[in-house]
This record gives sequence, structure tokens and C-alpha cells, in this order.
Amino acid sequence: MARNIKQLIAQMTLEEKAGLCSGLDFWHTKPVERLGVPSVMVSDGPHGLRKQAGDADHLGLNDSIRAVCFPAACATTSSFDVALVNKMGETLGDECQAENLSVLLGPAVNIKRSPLCGRNFEYMSEDPYLAGKMAASYIRGVQSKGVGTSIKHFAANNQEYNRMSCSSEVDERTLREIYLPPFEEAVKAAQPKTVMCSYNKINGVYSADNEWLLTKVLREEWGFEGYVMTDWGAISDRVQGIRAGLELEMPASGGANDAKIVAAVRDGSLDEALLDRAVERILNVVFDYMDNRRPDAVFDRDADHQKAVEVEKECAVLLQNNGVLPLAAGARVAYIGGFAAAPRYQGGGSSHINSSRVTSALDAAKAKNRAVTYVPGFPTDKDEADAAGLAAAVEAAKTADVAVIFAGLPDVFESEGYDRTSMAMPACQNALIAAVAAAQPNTVVVLHNGSPVECPWAEDVAAILELYLGGQGVGEACDALLWGEANPCGRLAETFPLRLEDTPCYLDFPGDGKTVKYSEGVYVGYRYYEAKKLPVRWAFGHGLSYTTFGFANLKLSAETLDDTGTLTVRVDVTNTGKVFGKEVVQLYVADKTGTFGRPLKELKGFAKVALAPGETKTVSLTLTARDLSWYNVELGDWYAASGAYEVMVGHASDDIRLTAAVQFTTQKQLPLHVSGATTIGELARDPRTAPVVAQMMQQAAQAFGGDGASLTGSDSDQAMMQAMMNGMPLKSLMSFGMMNAEQLDGLIAACGGAPQG
Ligand code: BGC
Repeated sequence: MARNIKQLIAQMTLEEKAGLCSGLDFWHTKPVERLGVPSVMVSDGPHGLRKQAGDADHLGLNDSIRAVCFPAACATTSSFDVALVNKMGETLGDECQAENLSVLLGPAVNIKRSPLCGRNFEYMSEDPYLAGKMAASYIRGVQSKGVGTSIKHFAANNQEYNRMSCSSEVDERTLREIYLPPFEEAVKAAQPKTVMCSYNKINGVYSADNEWLLTKVLREEWGFEGYVMTDWGAISDRVQGIRAGLELEMPASGGANDAKIVAAVRDGSLDEALLDRAVERILNVVFDYMDNRRPDAVFDRDADHQKAVEVEKECAVLLQNNGVLPLAAGARVAYIGGFAAAPRYQGGGSSHINSSRVTSALDAAKAKNRAVTYVPGFPTDKDEADAAGLAAAVEAAKTADVAVIFAGLPDVFESEGYDRTSMAMPACQNALIAAVAAAQPNTVVVLHNGSPVECPWAEDVAAILELYLGGQGVGEACDALLWGEANPCGRLAETFPLRLEDTPCYLDFPGDGKTVKYSEGVYVGYRYYEAKKLPVRWAFGHGLSYTTFGFANLKLSAETLDDTGTLTVRVDVTNTGKVFGKEVVQLYVADKTGTFGRPLKELKGFAKVALAPGETKTVSLTLTARDLSWYNVELGDWYAASGAYEVMVGHASDDIRLTAAVQFTTQKQLPLHVSGATTIGELARDPRTAPVVAQMMQQAAQAFGGDGASLTGSDSDQAMMQAMMNGMPLKSLMSFGMMNAEQLDGLIAACGGAPQG
């Protein structure tokens, strides 16, 4: 509908405009009735609707309408299936239309820096590329239904401990390469209607006040067009927020902050044009929703429940299997553990859904008349040994063909608002798994958890199926996967370390309460474990299937790539087993130029392929210069040195099947500031100054009576001399009597620097 929002704003009073910049209540924007501006509702998110009709809260404590709980992002990201999350987004968008929600508060894309973050279940991955692609696809799905999204929490909110005040101390390169790219990709590829800024500070500045983050990076560099809202209560300095590019305060501060905006405009400390800009951005999204309203949309909870089941089937990760899975039809199976009857399928806090129904694996098995017995074995809500329960479990396991233990973390172990303190499973469950595995060689463990756990019994059990927090359809999905009606095809979107002590930020998590130092830099997740050669329980990208896959014919469209070109990577994947299955082709790249501080490999492409037995498909993925690049802060841009790079294709980060080489050339030049402190090595490596240094070395050699080809006789002497010279700053040439002041200034000038003075 044609509407002139600028004209509408021109008719508003200062108070009306300031008022529009905070919520009406917990979940609504304010109306301006006299001008036809409606109040619209926003709601959590991300994996279902938490629409609160009655008393509002942001921690999921009070009831919301009955809705459908889809698998949480820890699960959906493991699908590595962009089409799947897109479809799930479409369903959620339809549900929002039916419930009149203008914005769904998600996706949540903060990087899993530590396995301990209480909210990891809601986050996507330790890998920014994967998180970015999945987030963009989810956003496109929801927004295709005329409903907005709110990608959150922008940015560097990677723990729950003191999340509302703590400062994430993180260098810009790390921000740009690890913590910002999921947002960047989502904004550039899917243009979310809103962004939710995080509670925390970044390097001392609250996200809500951060003009660099909210305007320079988000809008000027990435082209964000929607509005930024605060996380609930994340407002800091309201007037600075308007200047910085923070449009909507949620929920509100009882009018106090609106009054501050009014006063600041009146006393001239806030330019009214900036307030108008904020109002315009909010109204664009409000009216966009109104123009796309579909009041006739229906929320069909039964149909969407089935969709939730189907999604989870694509997400579960088969971590280990000696062939016991899939269970043979007719097998007598002991189901052990309370999660078999009442699964843990979602996390606590603001994403908590009042589920329309939940099916358990036990219900699903009974519905299919499977030969299953059941013993609870241990309490699912706490860590408390139950000797009688354990004995009954061992007995049941002995008399069955297979024991399936439904294990997992109790609700209280992981939630929004606080972090875990350990990666351990409850001791009562570890003890039961060990005892059952000792009594029954065919023991399967099914896990219900939102983040990695230590599995000390992994080598003693026959199979492990990771369900994550699989949504309200998890029981049916689990039944289909265990009994071979569906073939597991999820891959880990995060590493499972062996021990907490091995994790990249072990010494720096969660900080001292005021600050948290991201000392590990870009070495997050597999980037760290690989660089340190640390063994892990299961690597990033790992996941098994009931079939097997072969890779062949890796072909690059060219042997070279430059700043503006693209490189197409093609590979054939074949289902070499006996049943239908899906493989996730993963593409990693490695910098072989010798540049300091680059991870050994980084994910830069993936595709999920469905294959009938014997079938082959060619997968095609594209690389550009950006995929080879790192962020050079001095340059203020992405940069990859000219030279050799490796393209790797395979089944997991630790299971690369094929590699190819590519030669990259760039026209970009790193800033060169030559002074007395610049080392000879630095200049020798830079093509702009290498000739000057070579000449200088030759002259020095002649001065020392050499032949100009080498400083001294033997090759090793020459190598030693070269290595020592490499680390020598230019100024020391004077100290060691190799040059006088005039010659040194001449050399620096020849390299483009300013004289010493
Ligand atoms: C959470 C957000 C959520 C908001 C509203 C906050 O506590 O951090 O993710 O959207 O509450 O419930």
C-alpha cells in the first residue's frame, strides 16, 4: 500500500515520536491512533511461538499459548540442510500470521565459544559460516510469509554469566572473522526486518550504545535496512542509543527514557533528524507487516506437529554404531531411562514453548507394537543414584536382545540465564550406562541435551544417537531412526571435546564477572583443536549413517583465483551402501602462504545430498576471494596473500577425502609503514621493498669484503646470517656500524618511509 511515512512522521508531536521508540508493554509497539499507526506484537522465538496472552515475562516462566515446539537450533543446525530450515521458517511464519505476530524473535546465532554457555542449545554452531547460512535460510523462510525476524543477540554474547553487564574483550579481527559473520551473512543475504542488540558490552561499550556496531558495521558496511531493538532491558544510555542506531527499546522504562529523548531534542543535544530516522525505520517494518497481514491464516497444530517430527529426523546425529542400529524388526529391546517416557526436548528460558503435545519414544514404539519393555532406571530431573532402579535396568538389559538407554541432561543443567559449570552428565546416568553396558554388549545410548557432554562410556557401548533437544516430535523421530524407518543424516555443528580442560577458552571462561577476555582469538572450536592437535571425542562435521558414501572426481573450474573471480568446486558423491541416505559434503579451505595466525582449515561450503543405493550425484560449490581471506584490521578489509591455498572436500572436518590446490593472486596491498623499527625480514618479504633490501644486502656484503653473492662462504652460514638479519630492525644497522644516519634515512626513504628525525 502506498504510504508516505515521512509525511506521517512530520505530523507527529515530539512526544509521539519519542514514545514510538519504546514498547507499549512487554510485547507490543506503541500505536499513534490519531494517525492510524497500529500497535503490533513481537514474540519469542526462535523454534516455536511463545505468545503470551496473559502475564508477561522474558524468562519463559509464565504460560504462553499452546504452540508447536520445533527442534532447537542445536538440532536444526546439525541438519546442515538450508532447505529444511527454510521450510521450518515458512511454517513458523504462517503460525505468526495466524497469531498476529509481526516479528518472531530469532534466529539466535551467537557462536558457541564454550560448551558451557547455558544457551548453546538455542545457538547454532561454533562455526560462523555454517551459522550464517542456516540463519539466512531460516530468515528467508519466516519473512516469505510477511512476518519479520529478529536476529540476535548482536553481538559477542557468548555466555550467560553476567550477560547484562559483562564486557566481551575481543579484538576486531576475531570479531570480524568469528562473531560477526553469522549476522553479516544473514543481513546481506536475507535482510532480517530487525536485529536484536545484546545485553553485554563489547570492549567496554554496551551494544545498545555502540555506534560502530549498529551503524558503521551493520548499516554502512552490510546495508541493513530494518530496525534494531534492544534485548529485553538491554537499554543503556537512551539518547546515545538513538545516535548510535538503536531504534526500539524493549520492553520500556515506564516512559522515563522517552522523556529523556524529548528533553535531549529540546535542549539541542540530540538532533531531531536522528529521532525521525529511528521512527521511520520502525514504522517501515510495522507497516510492512500490516500490508502483508493474512488474518485468515490458520495455525494447524496437528499438521505442524508432524512437520516437527520430520525436521527432527533430519537433525539427529549418529555418533557411533557398530552395526547394532538400526534395530532389527522383531528384536526384544529394553528401553531404559525416564527420557524414553518423557523426553527432554527443549531448553529453559525465553524460547520455552507451551507444547501442543509431546510424543515419547515409548509411546511411538507402543503405537507400532514393537517388542519393548521399559524401566525408568534413574531420575531425569536430578543427579541422584537409585540403586533399585539401576539393578532393574541391568536385569532388563540382560533379558533383552538390545538395551537402549535414554540419557540426557536434566532441565536445570542448561538454560538461559546461567551457564553450566561442567560438561559431565549426571553421575547416576554415567554409572547406569556403565553397568548396563557391562551386562549387555548391545547397548545403545540416546542423548537428549543441548550442548556437548563428556561420554566416559563411549568406548563401551555399541551405538550412540544424539537427538539434541529435538522438539515435541522427538519421540516419533527417535523411533523411526532407531528402527531404521529413517536414516540418520545429521552432522555435528560443534566439536565434542574429550574434557572441559581441552576447550579453547577454558582459562578465560566466563571471566571475572566484569570482563571476559577472548584470548583464544579466532581459534574457536575445531580451529583450536586442530591447531593444537588435540584429540576430541567427535569432530565438527562428524555423523554416521546406515549407509556409506564415496567421494570422487574433485574438479576445480580453474587452478587460479583472483580478487573478483569465482572458483567452482565439483565433486561426485556416491551412496556405496544398501539403503537410501543423505551425505553432507563439506568444503574446507586452508591458507598455505605461510601467513601467521591462520587456522589449519575453515568451512567455506556444504551441501546435503539425498542418494539412493548406488546413486551418484555431482555437487557443485563456489568459492570467492572472501572465502580465502582473513580480516586485516590495519587495511580495514578482508585480505588473502597471493600464493598457494588448499581446497578440501570430505565427510567431516577430520575426514577429508579429496584435496586440490589453487593459486590466488590479489591486487590488494597491505599498508606499509616503514620506519627504523621495521625489520629487514618484513621488507624482504614485501614485493614493494624486496628489491631495495636485496640491493642493500649486496652493498653490505661488498663492504664486508664479500663477493656480493653471499655474506660469507658456506650455505649454512649464509642461512644463519639471513635469519638473523630478518629479525633486525633497520635502526640497528646504524648501531652496528653498517650504515651512518644519512644512509639509514636514504634506505627508509627508498622503502617509502619518513626519515628517522
Ligand atoms: C532474551 C531474548 C528474548 C527476550 C524476550 C531475553 O531475556 O535474551 O532472546 O527474545 O528475552 O523474551
